[in-house]
This record gives sequence, structure tokens and C-alpha cells, in this order.
Amino acid sequence: MTFLDLANKRYSVRNYKDTAVPKEHIEVCIEAARLAPSACNSQPWKFIIVDQPQLRSQLAKAAFEGLLDFNHFVFSAPVLVLIVSQRQKISAKLGSIVKGRDFHLMDTGIAAEHFCLQAAELGLGTCMLGWFNQKKVKKTLWIPTLKRVELIISVGFAADETTPKKKRKSTDEIRTYNKYS
Ligand SMILES: Cc1cc2nc3c(=O)[nH]c(=O)nc-3n(C[C@H](O)[C@H](O)[C@H](O)COP(=O)(O)O)c2cc1C
Repeated sequence: MTFLDLANKRYSVRNYKDTAVPKEHIEVCIEAARLAPSACNSQPWKFIIVDQPQLRSQLAKAAFEGLLDFNHFVFSAPVLVLIVSQRQKISAKLGSIVKGRDFHLMDTGIAAEHFCLQAAELGLGTCMLGWFNQKKVKKTLWIPTLKRVELIISVGFAADETTPKKKRKSTDEIRTYNKYS
């Protein structure tokens, strides 16, 4: 499989089989995320893997019940992975402040995609979830109030094994050479 094949293969899976995910698979995905680049090599992330069934449904309930019910599919995912941002190196933090750029968000996004691409290579489906109840999620897992959960990734084997066609802007819409427009 080429890298482009893999990039095509990964898509947001919103319906999962009731099949357990081998822990070794999760560990490989975490290793892929661990190798991700980050501003000043801060690696400002911590991954919490929730695979214990009772806790997982408690978390899904806390995260998505109510207004965020469109993420209800998460209840079918056998594993939920939370990415909690950690302190950046002072140089990355200063750079973020001086340049007005949220480097830690870029960092966690890159690590999340490493995780998801590795999962796709192993035949696992994932969906990154940015819409969830931050307060209730932190309360459920006893995450300190000052920490921030940046993303939740649902993980499992896709119920439907056909890869949907990507909906993307055309290359001409997103690429120019040597000028803005
Ligand atoms: C930062 C981020 C947050 C997202 N949040 C959600 C979400 O809360 N619920 C959801 O169903 N999908 C969510 N997605 C998935 C996107 O909708 C999806 O990646 C996009 O539509 C492209 O489709 P694909 O992943 O199947 O290629 C999120 C994706 C990203 C990168």
C-alpha cells in the first residue's frame, strides 16, 4: 500500500462492529502518534485509552448526550482515545504567544492523524471528535480542571467494509505555485 492508498483508506467511521480491538493494535497506533513532529519537539500530548466497557459508555454518555447527540454513533465504538494537551516547552509557548499561533493544537492534530493513519493501516476505523462536553468528560475521568481534552478518537472495526469516496475540494482550488491566487 502506498502512502496515498493509506490516506484514501482512512475515513471517518461512524458505525462499528461489536468486535474487540487488540491492545497491541492500540499500542502500535500510540507508537505512530509518539513519533509525530511538534513545535520545538514539545510533544504536548497525553493519550488516555478507554477500553473498559462500563467506563467507556459512561464516558460516551458524558461526552455526547444531549445537544451533541449527533455523535451518538460513538456508543458503538469499542475504544475511545482522548488526547489531553500537556505543557509545551517554553520556546514553543513563547513562539505561540509572539506569533499568535496555537502550536499545541497543530501538534495534537498531527499526532492524532498519525494515530488514525496507523489505525487504518491495521484495518481499524477511527473518527476524530471535536464536539463533546469538555467539563463532563474531564469529570468522568478525573482529569484536572486546568487540562484540556483536545480531541476524542473513536476506534473499532468498521461495520461496513466499503471505503466511501472522498468529498474534497479539487486540487486547483487548493494549490497555487509561487503566488496566492
Ligand atoms: C478536528 C476534527 C474534529 C472533528 N469532529 C467531529 C465530530 O465531532 N463528529 C463527527 O462525526 N466527525 C468529526 N470530525 C470528522 C470530520 O467530519 C471528517 O474528518 C471530515 O468530514 C472528512 O471526512 P473523512 O474523515 O471521512 O475523510 C472531525 C474531524 C476533525 C479533524
